[in-house]
Amino acid sequence: MAAKLIKGAEVAAQIREELKKEVEDLKAKHNLIPGLVTILVGEDPGSVSYVTAKQKTSHELGFYSIQDSQPPDITEAALLALIEKYNQDPKLHGILVQLPVPKHIDSNKVLYAIDPNKDVDAFHPVNVGRILIGNYAFLPCTPAGCQELIYRAYGDPKGKEVVVVGRSNIVGKPMVAIMIQKRAGANATVTCVHTGTPKDKMIEHCRRADILIVAAGVPKYIQGDWVKEGACVIDVGVNRIGKSEKTGKAILAGDVDFESVSQKASFITPVPGGVGPMTITMLMKNTVMAAKLAAGLVKL
Ligand code: GUN
Repeated sequence: MAAKLIKGAEVAAQIREELKKEVEDLKAKHNLIPGLVTILVGEDPGSVSYVTAKQKTSHELGFYSIQDSQPPDITEAALLALIEKYNQDPKLHGILVQLPVPKHIDSNKVLYAIDPNKDVDAFHPVNVGRILIGNYAFLPCTPAGCQELIYRAYGDPKGKEVVVVGRSNIVGKPMVAIMIQKRAGANATVTCVHTGTPKDKMIEHCRRADILIVAAGVPKYIQGDWVKEGACVIDVGVNRIGKSEKTGKAILAGDVDFESVSQKASFITPVPGGVGPMTITMLMKNTVMAAKLAAGLVKL
């Protein structure tokens, strides 16, 4: 069977349209304009392009939006003071510090300095705890994007066997927490396999999955014969496996061997163009939620 492609860019565009209308409504009815500040330390080209894209999208959606670029040698204390200034700014509902930060700065200290109600990355321990409890405002952007893709393309995962490959704090662990929620779009039976799982067991678990979500960080790791016929496969991996001689651009591969897996799956996300385009859109969704939270329009 040849799998249907889950086109993240199309789903992301649809969600952004929904958000744009919601932002117009918030302005008209509540005089509320979602505000987002993105803080970038240094000039890493990848990070520059990420924050530029985040700013572009937030402007398109009608947010109040600030890009704060800081030199690579900013002290940790100065960065913490900057975050505190934004914590106190009522026009800003979301604060994002682009990672990674330079080595002289403790990234956990920085992330934990953000007011949890402005933590649109959902990396603060308070938000991690809120998600585990099931009473949350924000979900981390990448796993939240995966959930949206599954729900909108494949359908409600309720009662399905979900296998998550990888246990990072940014994708694998929150992905598990999201899929076990007693809510629409979740309510699945979830297994997490990781580097501590023997390979034969890993393959066994993957073969049971109705929905296989892969964030392993290993290019083309998942093979076609590890995948159940008709499964929905979500590939979170973005690996640079070479450079195009023609264009000089990086050649990307996911964590799934697309060629063989797409013959078995019923749905699959391509790399690029699958999960990637969803991440910024989910950040925008979190920022709208943060604004509503601040205005008392939603309560935790
Ligand atoms: N760097 C790469 N991905 C992310 C992300 O999701 N959030 C932040 N803050 N930095 C990142």
